[in-house]
Amino acid sequence: MKKLSIYLFIITFLTTALAACSDSRIYKIGVSQCSQDDWRSKMNDEINREIMLHEDAEVEIRSADDSNPKQISDIRYFADNGFDIIIVSPNEAQALTPIIKEVYESGIPVIIFDRNIIGDSYTAHIGVDDKSIGREAAHYAFHILTEPPKVIEIYGLRGSTPAENRHNGFANELTAVGGKIIASEAGNWNKEEAIPIVDSLLKAHPEANLIYAHNDRMAIAASEITRRHGRNDIKIIGIDAAPEIGIKAVADSIIDATFLYPTEGHRLIQTALAILKGEPYQREVEIPASSAVDLSNADILLLQNETLTEETRKMKLLKEKIDDYWAKHSSQTSLFYASIAIIVLLFGVFFLVLRSFWQHRRHQMALMERNRLLEEQRDMQKSLNEKLQEATQSKLMFFTNVSHDLRTPLTLISEPVSQLAEAKNLTPQQHTLIKIADKNVKILRRLINQILDFRKYENGKLDLHLSEIDFGHAINEWMESFYAVARKRDIRLSLDTPAGAPVTGAFDAEKIERIFFNLISNAFKYTPDNGSIHVSYSVENERLTLKVADTGEGISERDLGNIFDRFYQADRIHPRGSGIGLSLVKAFVELHGGTISVKSALNEGSVFTVELPIRHISDTTVATEQNITPEDVATELSGIEADLTFDAAKPLLLIIDDNKDILRLVSELLNTSYNIITATNGRDGIRMATKYVPDLIICDVMMPVMDGMECCRRIKEEISTSHIPILMLTACSMDEQRIQGYDNGADGYLAKPFSGAVLASRCASLISNRKRIKEIWSGDTTPATASATKCMSPDPQNPASKPTLPVSEIDNDFYRRFIEILKADMGNSDLNVDKIASKMGLERSQFYRKIKALTNYSPVELIRRIRLKHGHNLIVSTDKTISEIAYETGFSTPAYFTKCYRDAYGETPTEVRNRLGKNSNPSVQ
Ligand code: FRU
Repeated sequence: MKKLSIYLFIITFLTTALAACSDSRIYKIGVSQCSQDDWRSKMNDEINREIMLHEDAEVEIRSADDSNPKQISDIRYFADNGFDIIIVSPNEAQALTPIIKEVYESGIPVIIFDRNIIGDSYTAHIGVDDKSIGREAAHYAFHILTEPPKVIEIYGLRGSTPAENRHNGFANELTAVGGKIIASEAGNWNKEEAIPIVDSLLKAHPEANLIYAHNDRMAIAASEITRRHGRNDIKIIGIDAAPEIGIKAVADSIIDATFLYPTEGHRLIQTALAILKGEPYQREVEIPASSAVDLSNADILLLQNETLTEETRKMKLLKEKIDDYWAKHSSQTSLFYASIAIIVLLFGVFFLVLRSFWQHRRHQMALMERNRLLEEQRDMQKSLNEKLQEATQSKLMFFTNVSHDLRTPLTLISEPVSQLAEAKNLTPQQHTLIKIADKNVKILRRLINQILDFRKYENGKLDLHLSEIDFGHAINEWMESFYAVARKRDIRLSLDTPAGAPVTGAFDAEKIERIFFNLISNAFKYTPDNGSIHVSYSVENERLTLKVADTGEGISERDLGNIFDRFYQADRIHPRGSGIGLSLVKAFVELHGGTISVKSALNEGSVFTVELPIRHISDTTVATEQNITPEDVATELSGIEADLTFDAAKPLLLIIDDNKDILRLVSELLNTSYNIITATNGRDGIRMATKYVPDLIICDVMMPVMDGMECCRRIKEEISTSHIPILMLTACSMDEQRIQGYDNGADGYLAKPFSGAVLASRCASLISNRKRIKEIWSGDTTPATASATKCMSPDPQNPASKPTLPVSEIDNDFYRRFIEILKADMGNSDLNVDKIASKMGLERSQFYRKIKALTNYSPVELIRRIRLKHGHNLIVSTDKTISEIAYETGFSTPAYFTKCYRDAYGETPTEVRNRLGKNSNPSVQ
C-alpha cells in the first residue's frame, strides 16, 4: 500500500514536471545605447520587432544618455547578470574601449554597432559607411548651390568615429568640387548645444551659404538660427533621416536635405543569435550609404514610414494575441497533465481503498473463524474441566473412603505393634525392625487423619472447637518436644516470647497445635544439622502473629506460589511428603479466619507467618492437653540408629539413601553379613566411599544435594573407588532410568519395593563376583597354572588380555600402568611403594587401598610376587645365572631372592634348574 502511494506520487510529479519543462533555452541579449533620441528609437523599434520573431531570445535595452560612466556601468550590469551577448554603440571610442575589451576577453561575445572603439576587441562590428555619407553630402551641397559652397560644419562629437568619418568624407569631396569648410565646431549631437554654436558661427561667418550638420537635430537647430538671423538663403543639410525628425523636417522645408543613416536593428539581433547559436556570421559589416532625402521623396518616405508603423502596431497586436493564446495553451496543457495526474491518483486511491476493504474483509472472516474455533475449544475445555472435576471428586471420594477403610486395620496393626515394641525378649535386630514398623504405622495414621480432615474442610464439615487458651503457655509446651531433636542435630532452636501480659484467646487448641507442629516439623526437615530455627509470636491490633523461620534449603520462586495448594509437592525431584501438610495448615488457619504466608530464598531459608484474629469466649483460660508427644516428634523427625558392629571377617557395605527408614531397613536386613556404614545423600556417599573404600555400595537414585546417578558416575570415575560394585536401589523402575544407571557405571539395579532376600542375594552375588576378580588380579594361581585362567582375567604381566568378568576399563588401565611402571624399573631394588604411588598420582594410603581392593594383596606383597614370577620365567627360559636374575628382578641380594622364591614356590631356584636339567651357579643356593 505504501509502495503504491509512492509510485503514484512519482508518476504525478514527473507528468507535471514534464509539462512545466517543455520550454527550451532562452538567450539573453543586452543592448547598450549611448544615447536616447529619434534615430535610436527607430533602431530600438527594429530590435524589438525582430526579437518578436525569436521565441528563444529576449532583449534588454539600456541608454547611457550620452554619459561614458553610465554606459560603462550598463555594460558591467549586462556582464554580471548572465547576459549571453552584449551589443554596444559606444559613446566615445577612447572612454569605452577598456570595458568592452574586458568583457570581450572574459568570454562574453560583443557586437559593436554605429560608433566604433579603438582596436578590434569585439566579436562583430556593424557600421555604416560614414565617409560615403560625407561625400554624398558634399556632392549634394555642390549641386544645390550656384556658387562654390562655403560651409559651416556642425560637428558631431569629438572622439566619436561617425563624426570623424562624416567630416573626412565631406571635406575631401567638398575640396574636390571647389568648396570650402569655413568653420567647424562640435555640437555633441545635440540640438541644444548646437544652437549657440550655429549662432556664433553665423555671426562670425556671414559669407557662409550652407550649413552641414552631422545629424538632423543639429541641422534643425541651424535652421532655427538662420531663420532668426533672416538668412533663409543658407542651405541646410543633415544626416540620419529618422522619419519623425529628419524626414519630417525636410517635408516641412525646415532643412533642405538629410542623408539616411541606416539603423538596421533587425540585423543586430540576427547577428547576435547567429553568434550564440554558432551559426556563420560576418564579423565586419559596413552598410553602404544611400542617397539624399529631399523634398522630392520625403513625403513618400514618410508615408512608407507610417505604413510601417501601422504594420508594426498590428504585428505587435498579433504578437500579443499569440502570446496570449500561447499562455492559455500552456496553462491548458498544464491543466490537462494535472488532470491526468489527478485521475491517476484517484484511480490509485480507489484501488487502495478497494484493496484495504478486501483485506479488512478477509481479516474479519479469519478473525470470525478463529473466534469460532476458540469458542469450540472453550466449550470443549469447559466440558473437559467438568469431567475432570467429576473425576477428581470421585477420586477424592475414593481416597476418603479408602482412608476410612484403612483406619480400622491400621488401628489393629498399631496396637499389636506397639505392644511388641515393648516386649523384652526381642533380639536387637527384631527390636529395631519392630520400631520401624511402629513408627511408620503412626505416620500412616497421621497421614490418613490429615486426608480425612482436609476432606472435611473441603466439604465444610470441619468444625472449630474453640476454647480460651494461654497461647504463650501452650507454645512453650509444644516447643519442649522439639529441643531433644534440635540438640541431637546441633540445630539452634529458639523461641521469642513477647513481653507483657500473657497472650490468651479463643482457638481450637488441637488445630493450632497441628499448625505449629507442621510448620516446625517442616523447618526441621529442611534445615541441615548446625542450622537454626527461630519461633516467635506477637500481638498487635487484636491479631496474633506466629513466625517460624529457618536457615534451611529455602523454596524456589517457582514453587512459592503453590506450596499451600492441595497435593502440591514443592520439591518434585526429591519429594519428602504427600503435599497435604501445608494445605491442611492453611485450611486450619483459614478456619480461624486467619492468613498464612511465606517468604523464602533458595539456600537462605524460609519464614512462615501465620496471622490469627484474637477473640475471647471466656475470662478464664483452660489448660491445653498436649496431643503431640515427644515420641511423635521423634517418630516424625529422627531416625533409629542401627547397631553397627565392625567385623573384620565381613565385607563393608555403604548404603546411600535420603530416607532414614530405608537406611535402617536395609541395615537391619544385611547387618548379619556386612559391616554397614550409611550416608543420606550422594555427596556424603562419595565422601564415605573415598574414605572407607567399601566392598559394596547400595545407592538410591533420587536424593537431595547430589542424586544417585551423579554419585555413581563419580565413584566409578575415581580411581580409588572405581572398582567398588554399586547396586542402585530406587522406586523408579522405568527402563530409561535403568539404562541411565548402567551408563553411569552401576553394577546392578533393584527396584523398590524389594524383597529382603533378593536384596541380600544381589549383594552377595556382586561381592562374590568382586572376589573372583580379586583372585584373578592377584594372580593367586601359581605361574604354572596361570594360563588356565587367562580367559577369565588379565594376566598380571599381560594386562591387555580381556577378562570375561566385569572389570572396568579404569581398573584395567590402573593395573596396566602399575605393571608398566614396575616392569620399566624392575631391576631397581629401591623402587618401593611410595615411588610407584607417586608415579601413579595417588597418595600412599589410596594406592594401598586400591591395590588391596583389586588384588587382596598389599602393594609390597604384590610387587614381590610379580618380581618372583618374572624371576621364575627367567630361570626356566634363560641361561642367566641366579645372581643375574636376582638383581634383574630388583632383589637386593641373590640370597634374599632365593629365600623369597622358596617361600613362594616351595623350592629354590637352583632346585628348579636342576629339575629342569639346566646348569646353575653353584655358589648360590
Ligand atoms: C544618435 C546620433 C545620430 C547620429 C549617430 C552617430 O545618437 O547622434 O544622430 O547619426 O548618433 O553615431
